[in-house]
Amino acid sequence: MNAMSAALASSRRPINSWKSTLSVGNENIDNDHRYLFYLAAKVRAEVLGANNPNAVRFVLDALLTDAQEHFQREEALMKEIRYADQDEHVMEHRLLTYHLRKLYYRSAGGDRVTNEDLDIFLDRWMARHILTADLDLAKSIHEAHPHPAQMLA
Ligand SMILES: [Fe+2]
Ligand SMILES: [Fe+2]
Repeated sequence: MNAMSAALASSRRPINSWKSTLSVGNENIDNDHRYLFYLAAKVRAEVLGANNPNAVRFVLDALLTDAQEHFQREEALMKEIRYADQDEHVMEHRLLTYHLRKLYYRSAGGDRVTNEDLDIFLDRWMARHILTADLDLAKSIHEAHPHPAQMLA
């Protein structure tokens, strides 16, 4: 059983918060992902609270900005190691950005984002991407730089 099916089979509940099963074994990437889930939890707190579209849009904007910065950091690493699956991975980042933007524009248009919308984004898009594409990228980074401390020497 690979990491994705193990993580998905371990619970029928959606993966909507960061947990160790989402670790890709690269500290920088894991920290980025942890922070993205933290921002998503802030969006959820708004949605489950007053659910004011303006307030939701504000926290979604932070999540969208941070997600895009994270994607850029991964894409820079891909270039650095001449990652073979770069094009496919970048396409997935674009798709993730599209889904987040859709939620953002919905709240900007005065529509309510629901708890279920967030579960779908985090479980079906974020967690799946992390457990497939990001896990593979982290392995390739490790193969290219098995001893990251030596890169600084
Ligand atoms: Fe990625
Ligand atoms: Fe990622």
